[in-house]
Amino acid sequence: MSETTSASAVSRSGSLPGSLPGDLPRRERLARIVRVDHAGEYGAKRIYEGQIAVMGKGRHGRTLRHMAEQELVHLEYFEKQLNRRRVRPTLLQPLWHVTGFLLGAGTAILGERAAMACTVAVEEVIEEHYEAQLKHLGPEEQELTDSIRKFQAEEVEHRDIGLQNEAERAAGYPILSAAIKAGTRAVIWVAERV
Ligand SMILES: [Fe+2]
Ligand SMILES: [Fe+2]
Repeated sequence: MSETTSASAVSRSGSLPGSLPGDLPRRERLARIVRVDHAGEYGAKRIYEGQIAVMGKGRHGRTLRHMAEQELVHLEYFEKQLNRRRVRPTLLQPLWHVTGFLLGAGTAILGERAAMACTVAVEEVIEEHYEAQLKHLGPEEQELTDSIRKFQAEEVEHRDIGLQNEAERAAGYPILSAAIKAGTRAVIWVAERV
């Protein structure tokens, strides 16, 4: 728990004992990157778990489990990053635990196409989000950069799976998609800060 205390102390006081004034913004920036990515991958895992709870025995079961397994790898990577960099996870993790699952299960209850529409919307936003992050990562963060690039490619694969499975033919697709995208962007905004 000392990591938690020191991480929040950094953001509140704006300085860290023994650190140079110049390296704090970068440190804080990286903390935000790792925190929000961890939150996002956690949410993704919960979305797929929600979908699997409803559709796991159906014809998309295998595909959903494949995507969920990849999300688990992403999540475990950012969990290690949090520990290594002594960054606390988002305080709202319990909320994402519930809302992620409900979003997955809820769209799956609406139907297979709605579930796929959810995947397409979320993964499109995550793909953009990773792209924006990559622009801020310098050569000194090569390993993190490579990992994000790899995950980004897998998110694109998930989006394409959704599109191949008639996401765009879901009832009310434009509204459903816009709502989920807006929600995902809001979650990203909050998770970077809280
Ligand atoms: Fe992911
Ligand atoms: Fe994904």
